[in-house]
Amino acid sequence: MTPTQIRCIPFFDYPHLFLSEERELSAIFRDVGLRGAFILQEDLIRFERNLAAYLGMKYALGVGNATDGLLLALLAAGIGPGDEAIFCSHTMVATAAAIHFAGAIPVPVECAKDHLIDPDAVERAITPRTRAILPTQLNGRTADMQALERIAKYHDLIIIEDAAQALGSRFQGRAAGTFGAAGVFSFFPAKTLGCLGDGGAVVTNNDEIYESLVQLRDHGRGSEGEIVSWGFNSRLDTLQAAILDFRLGSYDTTVERRRVLADTYHNRLRAIGQIKRPPGPEDDADHFDVFQNYEIEAERRDELRAFLKGHDVGSTLPWGGKAVHQWPRLGFSTHLPFTERVFERALLLPLNLSLTEDDVHHICNIIQDFYRLP
Ligand SMILES: Cc1ncc(COP(=O)(O)O)c(C=O)c1O
Repeated sequence: MTPTQIRCIPFFDYPHLFLSEERELSAIFRDVGLRGAFILQEDLIRFERNLAAYLGMKYALGVGNATDGLLLALLAAGIGPGDEAIFCSHTMVATAAAIHFAGAIPVPVECAKDHLIDPDAVERAITPRTRAILPTQLNGRTADMQALERIAKYHDLIIIEDAAQALGSRFQGRAAGTFGAAGVFSFFPAKTLGCLGDGGAVVTNNDEIYESLVQLRDHGRGSEGEIVSWGFNSRLDTLQAAILDFRLGSYDTTVERRRVLADTYHNRLRAIGQIKRPPGPEDDADHFDVFQNYEIEAERRDELRAFLKGHDVGSTLPWGGKAVHQWPRLGFSTHLPFTERVFERALLLPLNLSLTEDDVHHICNIIQDFYRLP
């Protein structure tokens, strides 16, 4: 057996997140630990400042995770009972859950060919009760924000971006998360910028939304510690912020590496007619994608997945295999045929910094072998 045949490639290698930077991370643990700087300390403030600067935003606020961030952003923007908020059903359930827990009604719509929210579907879903659009900047790509901004302006709607997967992604030169009233990022370990636990951030240029977020994430406390509103406990841990700030320093290199791996997939899978690839890194001058995921559509998807598994290559189905509106217990009665068809074929291939280009070639060889089978 050749070394190529015995290579094992998990979908995501979590220990690598620590082992690849063990020395630097250990130094951060020790530094934060010795200072006892655990909650709302200077490392968090520094990271928030650097994140805001990276995105060209006035404010960034660290929160417990992106799900909380979405909820707090909706509340801070005044979305609540009686309101409808439109989201793309091809997203994590978290997007819809945040709308639900804000007291509003989540309205799922179709994704477009690139798997991101379809602006025409958004327009069709608008009713007199619609107050907000929550585009998910999926797989490290930014939606057609020009169309969404036009719709939002015309119908007087608020945009809150679920940019959990899209730090550094751009549309027409503008960064994901910076288009609407607020944008939300996740630092879940497997994200392009990941910490070693849960973490998230909300960014905004709006002073009132920012003030409200500051209170909402910390028990409704004002600047003097007085309670000025009802609030939650959803602060980004200082230790996680210190790790994120360290990683933000080399984030552009991280993104470039992901784009190289995506490009390798893109070139290798071009010849396989049974696969529909996501847009390539250089396909469209309007888009700069950071490739949080590499999501293909594949004929005989489940068989391909089993074949990859048989060759020790991990893959996964987006969101456990269903779009949000397809989970019966959530009570949606919508039928979204295009999205449902996508979910019969969609498959995520490994794409992360533990992979080499050789690994990607190896995966593509296996896929090629699969479709050559009678
Ligand atoms: C599109 C999207 N929205 C929301 C979330 C929720 O992020 P978190 O796990 O930080 O709450 C995720 C995380 O996977 C996501 O990918």
